[in-house]
Amino acid sequence: MLARLVSAATRRPAAWRAMSTVADKSVTITFVDLEGVRKTVPGLVGQSIYEVAKLHDIALDGACGGGGMPKYIRRTDVFLEDEYGAGPQCNTCHVMIPDEWYGKLNEVFECEQEQLDDIGDNLYVPGASRLGCQVRLSKALDGMVVYIPDGPPVHEVVNTLPTR
Ligand code: FES
Repeated sequence: MLARLVSAATRRPAAWRAMSTVADKSVTITFVDLEGVRKTVPGLVGQSIYEVAKLHDIALDGACGGGGMPKYIRRTDVFLEDEYGAGPQCNTCHVMIPDEWYGKLNEVFECEQEQLDDIGDNLYVPGASRLGCQVRLSKALDGMVVYIPDGPPVHEVVNTLPTR
């Protein structure tokens, strides 16, 4: 009798079971900086790599603040509101993604590729380089490793320059 009462009390209605949970929307990302220091942080499906880095004080620069996603990118399969940003305007959020994850990323659109091309041959690696602000997290990216290859963020370099 008691077991049946506990079972009934803890059973979720079918409608609730169909709803997504926090776990369904959470991912874990590990950032690796230029010195090999790793930091694993949580992120949410729909956020960009850049947004997750900023939330967790990861030294990933973003001179244009992400520039907004191009209007033809949608956040997730279920959140279909288009965004109307200007698209990436710099490449300081350059990251590198290992093979294991690269094929699971959202596609590279022309405006991102133009910024990646400007990085230069010594840093741009086709099949690994992306702009952190243009990669949207999906559940398939849970556990992804993100390398930050560019050295000190621009703002740190700027802060060390003499003011005169
Ligand atoms: S922050 Fe400028 S392109 Fe990503």
